[in-house]
Amino acid sequence: MNIFSGSANKPLAYDIAKHLGIPLGKVEIHIFPDGERRVRIIDKVLDKDCIVVQPTAPPADTHFMELFFIADGLKRSGAKSITAVVPYLGYQRQDHVFREGEAVSLTVVVKMLETAGVNSIITLDLHSIKIPEFFKIPVVHISALPLFAEKIREIDRAEVANENFLVHDANPHGRDLKKTSFSANAHSENFVSSPRSPVGNSVLVSPDMGGIRRIKLISEMLGNMPYASIIKNRDLATGKVEADIIQGEVKKRAFIVDDMISSGGTIATASRLLKKHGVEEIYVFATHAVFSQLAPKFLQESQAKKVYVTNTIFVPEEKLFPKLEIISVSDIIASEIHKY
Ligand code: R5P
Repeated sequence: MNIFSGSANKPLAYDIAKHLGIPLGKVEIHIFPDGERRVRIIDKVLDKDCIVVQPTAPPADTHFMELFFIADGLKRSGAKSITAVVPYLGYQRQDHVFREGEAVSLTVVVKMLETAGVNSIITLDLHSIKIPEFFKIPVVHISALPLFAEKIREIDRAEVANENFLVHDANPHGRDLKKTSFSANAHSENFVSSPRSPVGNSVLVSPDMGGIRRIKLISEMLGNMPYASIIKNRDLATGKVEADIIQGEVKKRAFIVDDMISSGGTIATASRLLKKHGVEEIYVFATHAVFSQLAPKFLQESQAKKVYVTNTIFVPEEKLFPKLEIISVSDIIASEIHKY
């Protein structure tokens, strides 16, 4: 098996190759002064199964073209099969005609991938579970939700331990609870002996009704943690997001789970609404860090305590911010490739 990377996310491709125990293949990507790209496969791939890693994140058009050219180069060099690992699939949100006269962009890019010679796709957390049906080739759709569930469990346990410590340590002497921090003492005999349910103060939140299936799945992974959903409206012409209704009960701590963050508008609006409804701590989880325009700034300034994303999309230095934490999906992708 040979594995190649486009230019969209080389660190991820490198990590996947490392998990697979093979080096990244050699591919030359030359950019002409006019911006056009020339792609050349250097390694010999005759009769080889080939993997290409390329999220089609912004600039989506450039990354798609590169992927088409790499696939074409591999096909012309006699590759036995071409599997495109597209951790984030660009244009997936335009999967039907929302307003009369619109193009269904997703169908166009799907046709182009198939025409370029891609035989199968591995992708993560698609916007809708119907998207694989747009392809004639096999699509393996994996999810970062189990990784998020693990992190949520971890945060929840730490916060509950902290709360229990504060409750117990209060208050015959009238100490200020807020100043009592969580420390190794929490494990001493002073620690409260009847801890509350680890999920008692937490709720999962979908920032829109479209994400309800996702939220139900992660709720199951977390032993049926309660969930709520925000009713969001987006102006289809301007993209502006509005939300003022929450369906379901919220609690002290909320874990917002979404597939992607683009402008950051959805998360900023959802966090504001949750705060308004009395939520004290907000953690955000989203698979794809599209992070367009001022999203990092909005997220840092939002009511969220922390923002977790994965590395399906490369986040450059200038888009990193203090509240951000990146969880790697390289091993779950490599395990999927291993099955080939
Ligand atoms: C929408 O349906 C998606 O699940 C995301 O919530 C949305 O794409 C995020 O976009 P933005 O960050 O621009 O609000």
